[in-house]
Amino acid sequence: MDDKLYFSYAQIHNTVRELAQTIAASGFSPDLMVAIGTGGFIPARILKTYIDVPILTVGLKLYDEQNRPSDSPRKIQWIDEVEKKLAGRKILLVDEVDDSRTTLEYCLKELLTHKPTEIAVGVLHNKRKEKRGVYPESVTRIYFGREIEDRWIVYPWDAVDIDAHEVLARSHRQGAATT
Ligand code: G4P
Ligand code: MG
Repeated sequence: MDDKLYFSYAQIHNTVRELAQTIAASGFSPDLMVAIGTGGFIPARILKTYIDVPILTVGLKLYDEQNRPSDSPRKIQWIDEVEKKLAGRKILLVDEVDDSRTTLEYCLKELLTHKPTEIAVGVLHNKRKEKRGVYPESVTRIYFGREIEDRWIVYPWDAVDIDAHEVLARSHRQGAATT
């Protein structure tokens, strides 16, 4: 047994549902989502089942080809005509994990330059740890599906053998790790 956390697709789906419920209960109703790829793509699509708004996507990458974290994320892809799409809109920025917060801080700062009415953050998992990034002051709505300890999470979309992954997700004591 390793010290990684394995989540199945069904667990992820339930976490997204809980995230959607938290967002709805807070009274926040976004006009659109911006998904940070690649980790935020599948969570954003599941979230759309509960919060039916259009999804824009951005591609950002912190880890390089050797799997080493860089100092600053690199833009793989960005939104066309951002001003037209973001100005005056309420945005929900979606990603899978709040880890060091570096990517989220970078992305929020970039998006805020295009004058949205408000940006909120919705992530599946927030790791309880010292963060390197900080949320800009104007970002006050931060939603997490679950808070977890600082361990490496293996998401189902990263599985090469999904059947073996699902077995690991079931056999690990996820409940203890995610409360
Ligand atoms: P944050 O702002 O959201 O906290 O992210 P941070 O900059 O710390 O790092 C983001 C990168 O680290 C993302 O990969 C993200 O997927 C990855 N990451 C951080 N913690 C975990 C984890 O526990 N499990 C997995 N699977 N990934 C994790 P990236 O290279 O920037 O892009 P991508 O993988 O989303 O394509
Ligand atoms: Mg990511």
